[in-house]
Amino acid sequence: MNTEYWIAADKKHCWHPFTRQDEWAAGQPADPLVLVSGEGVWLTDSEGRRYIDGNASIWTNVHGHNHPVMNAAITEQLGKVAHTSYLGFANPRASELAQRLCALFPPQSLERVFFSDDGSTAVECAVKMAIQYRLQTGDENRTEFIAFDQSYHGDTMGAASLGGVGAFFDRFRKFGFPVSHVTGMADLMALDESVIARTAAVIIEPLVQGVNQIHPWPEGMLRQLRQWCDAHGVHLILDEVMTGFGRTGSMFACQRENVIPDFLCLAKGLTGGYLPMAATMVKGEVYDAFLGAGERAFYYGHSYTASQLGCAAALASLDVFEQEETLAGLPVKVKLLEKGLADLAAKYEVVHEVRQCGMVAGIELRRESGEKFPLEDRTGERVSLLARRHGLLTRSILDTLVVLPPLSIRADEIAHLFQALDAAIRDNLNHVR
Ligand SMILES: Cc1ncc(COP(=O)(O)O)c(C=O)c1O
Repeated sequence: MNTEYWIAADKKHCWHPFTRQDEWAAGQPADPLVLVSGEGVWLTDSEGRRYIDGNASIWTNVHGHNHPVMNAAITEQLGKVAHTSYLGFANPRASELAQRLCALFPPQSLERVFFSDDGSTAVECAVKMAIQYRLQTGDENRTEFIAFDQSYHGDTMGAASLGGVGAFFDRFRKFGFPVSHVTGMADLMALDESVIARTAAVIIEPLVQGVNQIHPWPEGMLRQLRQWCDAHGVHLILDEVMTGFGRTGSMFACQRENVIPDFLCLAKGLTGGYLPMAATMVKGEVYDAFLGAGERAFYYGHSYTASQLGCAAALASLDVFEQEETLAGLPVKVKLLEKGLADLAAKYEVVHEVRQCGMVAGIELRRESGEKFPLEDRTGERVSLLARRHGLLTRSILDTLVVLPPLSIRADEIAHLFQALDAAIRDNLNHVR
């Protein structure tokens, strides 16, 4: 087994997400890296080259790779059992995890946890629950949703129909949920009463839109949105799939504005980025509508719901948050990111804007004139590829370079990350101010 063998088998049999497979198969613009191991924030490819995981393995990894506490917890659980059905059975790890997740919120707020597999299914559950809640509480006409332009909530049909990125969903639009998209609070407030009267819930990525090239919302917006929802009898679904588990500087983004949603969607960082698992947390009053006589149960579930291995990883990740005082260590790192971003913006005219929310950042590249680069130039992608040569893995969104490392990244590693970005921008654009 070697690099060539793995790449050949991949090109022959594998199908990658969001990928132009013909280019991939042709090795354009570059042959894939085959990642074989990790240690802390570093990943190693099959040729022995090391890279900082600047994208936290697609926004999942929290405490670093190959973490001894995470490994030990997963291994210990493996020695007992990997997975048992959650349909008709309980399991120790899921009971403990649900209790610990609820304890992260004030009493009598988010009291119930429904487990699923990934960010998309966490959202899928929330929207189906939100509709069924209305059907079971005499509000049959409130079965539509409001979402935000350019939002991203996953790729299953329901979750994707809420998303506001046309390229991902326009061709399926007529098959999805009825959704009204708004640009922000002013637009929401201007909505026709008849639309609001049909709305079950509003969904938002709180504090910052990730896939929309890292765009933070104005401060206070989330609090305003909560007030608007309360005033209009509309549920609030927070999609914290990306922002959850410390990314924005606090455990959950909603805590930064003292907001409790009616539904909270968690995934990615839930298991520290070790295993696929998701949770949809709901308020007690939502859960109560699913009790009682008749067909009121939530007929939904996946084979791997509440996987014992996944729950063990999630519990271990919460332990590491405590043992390493992860959240307390973030302010210094957030400042280092801020400084690194500011330095790039000051040095390169092509750095049009830098955007940051805690440990999540985006560097938008444009021509010196402020005009966007032509899409077909794929500038962001090219710069990300160049960064590999300098020991950094990241993935751009259009021409925005994403900086979203594991929270465990150290000061010297942040410095390395910015040196690599600097070198990649310089190599590509060669235009120092
Ligand atoms: C805000 C948000 N919601 C949902 C998802 C979908 O998560 P998954 O890819 O685990 O299905 C993502 C993925 O990037 C996301 O950023």
